Amino acid sequence: MLLLTLTQSVRMTTPNRHLICCLCVCVCVFDFLLTSFRTTLPAPMFSRNNFSVWGILKKCIGLELSKITMPIVFNEPLSFLQRITEYMEHTYLINKACSLSDSIERMQAVAAFAVSAVASQWDRTGKPFNPLLGETYELTREDQGYRLISEQVSHHPPVSAFHAESLVGDFVFHGSIYPKLKFWGKSVEAEPKGTITLELLKHGEVYTWTNPFCCVHNVILGKLWIEQYGTVEILNHSTGDKCVLNFKPCGMFGKELHRVEGYIQDKSKKKLCVIYGKWTECMWSMDPQTYESNKKAEKKADSKKQKSPEEPEGVDGDDADNMPEVLETVAVIPGSTLLWRISSRPQHSAKMYNFTNFAMSLNELEPGMQATLAPTDCRLRPDIRAMENGDMDQASREKERLEEKQRSARKDRSKVEEEWSTRWFQSGTNPYTSSQDWLYTGGYFDRKYSDLPDIY
Ligand SMILES: *[C@@H]1O[C@H](CO)[C@@H](O)[C@H](O)[C@H]1NC(C)=O
Ligand SMILES: *[C@@H]1O[C@H](CO)[C@@H](O)[C@H](O)[C@H]1NC(C)=O
Ligand SMILES: *[C@@H]1O[C@H](CO)[C@@H](O)[C@H](O)[C@H]1NC(C)=O
Repeated sequence: MLLLTLTQSVRMTTPNRHLICCLCVCVCVFDFLLTSFRTTLPAPMFSRNNFSVWGILKKCIGLELSKITMPIVFNEPLSFLQRITEYMEHTYLINKACSLSDSIERMQAVAAFAVSAVASQWDRTGKPFNPLLGETYELTREDQGYRLISEQVSHHPPVSAFHAESLVGDFVFHGSIYPKLKFWGKSVEAEPKGTITLELLKHGEVYTWTNPFCCVHNVILGKLWIEQYGTVEILNHSTGDKCVLNFKPCGMFGKELHRVEGYIQDKSKKKLCVIYGKWTECMWSMDPQTYESNKKAEKKADSKKQKSPEEPEGVDGDDADNMPEVLETVAVIPGSTLLWRISSRPQHSAKMYNFTNFAMSLNELEPGMQATLAPTDCRLRPDIRAMENGDMDQASREKERLEEKQRSARKDRSKVEEEWSTRWFQSGTNPYTSSQDWLYTGGYFDRKYSDLPDIY
């Protein structure tokens, strides 16, 4: 970490929040809420250029990544608990689903939400901090009408549980995530174990799904890039209807890069509607007949073009697996309905871990907030705070100290044969999928925090 002392970070000028606030007071309260979140970090990120990942990883092929210690320079200044909170960035889609009376349209909005929930992964190659056992994160967004609480409920294997609820009782959204990371030589693959449940309370509807796989390519050599793939099935538990979404692997020529295609079907497997687009851009829906005939016409045109096939490139070897160029954006078929479009990232995003505006705000600690937050909240983690401020030496020291503190607390517990007990979630069975899950036991927002562990 000595290298880090050599470079002095350049501080970005933070917009003067007080001035912004003053201007907003005269506008209505709603606008005030919208504008009062931080839109930048206190400091830009460090360059990773001078770190050889290969030196660290060559001994670790096939190991689970949680067992490998990486230098902090490959992190991003957010805890994994904050990272999963990014599912909530497009909560307006759940609110929309709640407001729709047509059940197919509701399923479309839910499908768009499920895709939008993983869109923040785009170009985010920084590794979030592993949460400490007992760490929590809360977020209340009155402008979007929800509040969320999450807790790290297990350390080995790492399990993060979250529970979000509408402030007006429209929906509950919860899940537990067991990210299983595998290192495959050139890439790191994350298997998203754990069920996600969305309950639309007024409609008496429950939907469940599991996120797609996520892969970070070229961890050793070449340019890092992210791929998401696999089938996501969103099940309507009231009827057995489902939405099947196929996150396509990019393939050899990159034609399918970022592409998502799927359909909503009823119990008798009749296709009711097609959903297509890219998780990095937008999602559309349309009727299956028009979609299929359009695809056939497209294929015909394609096969005419392919008279002179291009030379296929080598796929094996030690070279970097370069990200195929994004050749085209989503070709919209006339008659489609737009379900969701990604919002653009702020200009300074590239210097700040490619964060979205929403991500920029997640670790903000406003004056006065500390008095009400649980002492286990991620915002109070000194290593993440130091990294966010650009002090990498401090961040690295604090990370080591916290991990050591966690280890010695575990040793102390095992001496007296004491089991760790979770605080806000309880292990149980998901009533809809019958799978193992972690369920919120309530009470977090009563703010009685006297018996919480000292983890920082
Ligand atoms: C990386 O190393 C090169 C050459 O040793 C040096 O010129 C450059 O300033 C270093 N960059 C950082 C971010 O430390
Ligand atoms: C989901 O279940 C509800 C409640 O039974 C039903 O009314 C609705 O048609 C279903 N919708 C879809 C799209 O599966
Ligand atoms: C941010 O995105 C750019 C452009 O794709 C990429 O080159 C860079 O590695 C990304 N940075 C991080 C920290 O993921």
